Amino acid sequence: MTITPVPRVGIIVVAAGSGSRLGAGAPKGFVGIDGHTILRHALERVFAGPPAQVVVVTPAGREGDALSEALAAAGDRRDLVTVVAGGHSRQASVAAGLAALWADIEIVLVHDAARALTPPEVFGRVIGAIDDGRAGAVPVLPVVDTIKRVEGAEVVGAVDRSKLSAAQTPQGFRREVLDAAYRDATAEFTDDAALVADAGHAVAAVEGHPLAFKITTSADLDRARGIVGERPIAPASAHLDHSAPIPRVGTGTDVHAFGGDGTLWLAGLEWPGEQPLSGHSDGDAVAHAIVDALLAAAGLGDIGTHFGTDHPEYAGAHADVFLARTAGLLGEAGWRIGNVSVQVQAVRPRFAARRAESEAVLSAALGGAPVSVSATTTDGLGFTGRGEGVAAFAVALVVPA
Ligand code: CTP
Ligand code: MG
Repeated sequence: MTITPVPRVGIIVVAAGSGSRLGAGAPKGFVGIDGHTILRHALERVFAGPPAQVVVVTPAGREGDALSEALAAAGDRRDLVTVVAGGHSRQASVAAGLAALWADIEIVLVHDAARALTPPEVFGRVIGAIDDGRAGAVPVLPVVDTIKRVEGAEVVGAVDRSKLSAAQTPQGFRREVLDAAYRDATAEFTDDAALVADAGHAVAAVEGHPLAFKITTSADLDRARGIVGERPIAPASAHLDHSAPIPRVGTGTDVHAFGGDGTLWLAGLEWPGEQPLSGHSDGDAVAHAIVDALLAAAGLGDIGTHFGTDHPEYAGAHADVFLARTAGLLGEAGWRIGNVSVQVQAVRPRFAARRAESEAVLSAALGGAPVSVSATTTDGLGFTGRGEGVAAFAVALVVPA
């Protein structure tokens, strides 16, 4: 049995705010950036960083949703997830997270879920500063705008921006320092560094990251969406399971002239009193079109490949022989017949009364695969219209067995 070492770092991810300035109709953490929520993006980056207990602080009543997001983001670190309900202020929410830290945790990072795109490397930098002996560390970015001191509508002075930095999260602290600062806090502070500084500790500045910006307004959300690349509606092809076996279709046609002696064989049936068709076999154009369609679908050549005149055993054979042999060839090649549709063009015979009978015979010859037979005349046009012969057109679907 492997025992996962208890981490010495705890990361409190606060996501218990209402997101009133974003105004998306849901707590901010549950607002989608793309297919994934702000909270999920934040946690994916947290779990990609150094191993740590991760305490997710969520609005009361949303613990189950937060747990689902955390487990989905955690990968093989699911054991390190804790979810607690937050409070009415950010400070109260952090306090709830602190209370859920395991006893062995020595370094605590507090991170705004709203800084959803903060890269994992920032977590490492903050932890590094605490490991170097600092009581607290805050990621900062230089202020790029020129800053003015303004009173009412008046500019009353310039501020030297070289001395200013914008603070981000995660902010890290030695655990006992943060615990004591929270225990003794008498005022609300906008971030944890201010609280710890108020308690008399020096806080180190480490390099922040432009992607650690906070999603506060809809413009910020648009920026985040632009960065992660909005996932367009998936094209229909994306829903195809490419691991599924791909069916194949094939087409076949055949034509035979009326002529010779005996009775007509067509579509697997004998038609007493009707003029026969000439051909090497019984001239059953319907059966031969089906054979070609099936062989083509399976990529097995065509009727001449398997039943040509150099196969005397098929002279005079009827549809059932051809079709059964064809079904056998497909089976040996790893194909199952999906269905077959065949249309015959002929003035005679009249199919209507025997269509179902022919479908049953052809289907049985193919081992039970459905066969549809339809028949049409051609308004007196062409060789079929003049009654010189018949033509048949077949389509077959086959699937890997
Ligand atoms: N936060 C929290 N508990 C609160 C208030 C805020 O956990 N009672 C968290 C937010 O979820 C957010 C972070 O603190 O991740 C920073 O707060 P902010 O950006 O102000 O988020 P909201 O308070 O949710 O937004 P708003 O102020 O617009 O309502
Ligand atoms: Mg707020």
